[in-house]
Amino acid sequence: MENRRVILKKRPEGEATPDCFEVQTQALDELPPGHVRVSVEYISVDAGTRTMLRGEGFHMQVGVGQTILAGGVGRIIESSVDGWEKGQAVRGGLGAQTIATVPPEHLEKIEETNLPLSAWLGVLGGSTGVTAWIGIRRVAKPGPGDVFVVSAAAGAVGSIAGQIAKRDGAMVIGIAGGKRKTDYLVNELGFDAAIDYKNEDIGARLKELAPDGVNVFFDNVGGPVLDAVLDNIAMRGRVIICGAVSQYDDMDNVTGPSMYLRLAERQAKMEGFAYFHFPESIPEATQELKDWALDGSIKMPEEIRDGIEQYPEALQFMFQGGNLGKLMVKAS
Ligand SMILES: NC(=O)c1ccc[n+]([C@@H]2O[C@H](COP(=O)([O-])OP(=O)(O)OC[C@H]3O[C@@H](n4cnc5c(N)ncnc54)[C@H](OP(=O)(O)O)[C@@H]3O)[C@@H](O)[C@H]2O)c1
Repeated sequence: MENRRVILKKRPEGEATPDCFEVQTQALDELPPGHVRVSVEYISVDAGTRTMLRGEGFHMQVGVGQTILAGGVGRIIESSVDGWEKGQAVRGGLGAQTIATVPPEHLEKIEETNLPLSAWLGVLGGSTGVTAWIGIRRVAKPGPGDVFVVSAAAGAVGSIAGQIAKRDGAMVIGIAGGKRKTDYLVNELGFDAAIDYKNEDIGARLKELAPDGVNVFFDNVGGPVLDAVLDNIAMRGRVIICGAVSQYDDMDNVTGPSMYLRLAERQAKMEGFAYFHFPESIPEATQELKDWALDGSIKMPEEIRDGIEQYPEALQFMFQGGNLGKLMVKAS
């Protein structure tokens, strides 16, 4: 039996281009005791992966020569552990590879529903739908009367965050790159408005759409987008830092917000979060997202690249703003 895996060949400088990775074939030994072997079906492509390729800094790092860390879903094909049977669908840190050999403590069994297996990385994924749910319900808490703005709004986390804020009664404005995305947000996801930051002036559009300011900003992007919204923050507004994808290619030179004094002027505040700091909320988030996905009241488009060889290009595609919804690679 052979595994095909994506390794880090060299640390990217700036953009993580496909030549920083290599797809290798590995012969697999006999299954060790206490392990299961999983045929990986889908691999999650996450913006946060870029921060793991630099060798130091934030949580979890990938060494040169190591398999790229990634969430995945698949089915057990071999097991040496009671209770973890062949055919069981599982989710966990399976890595960017076709066959993962892991102890089951690293896995979670997936309940069979009418949802496709890929939904457990998309709308129900920890670093996607669940992050959005926790960010909205536990941190941002937008409600009726609030103008809520989300950046990277057509991406995995942003599209769910905006839909939950809308359910919770806020007026929702998405910021995304390109007309295909802004049309999607308004026409398919029911956002009240969308700003194409590549072709429109965010500040001018916010002044039109939200003359009294932005009450809650859920930021996935950082940089100039964060500054433009800070400049339009309402009195007692809240800025929630979910991520800063515009900064991940050069983490040694992160550009902080130049408009942060608006926080003082408007009695506003800024707060960050990571979903794994709220483990007690994950079951409730998963259940509610599952109910909404099953009754069709929440949507998460999935963009799926076919074949493990596509992983390096897929990651680059995300940083070029190509994906709409959840980006994944179909491994096998
Ligand atoms: N706090 C947490 O627990 C947590 C957990 C998971 C993810 N996150 C964060 O959530 C954010 C979204 O992650 P995701 O995995 O769901 O990715 P995603 O939103 O599906 O994809 C990333 C999107 O970011 C935008 N983008 C890329 N480079 C950009 C740049 N230089 N300037 C502005 N926009 C850029 C692109 O959309 P456009 O076409 O609109 O530019 C791209 O499609 C990231 O910041 C990530 O780190 C946080």
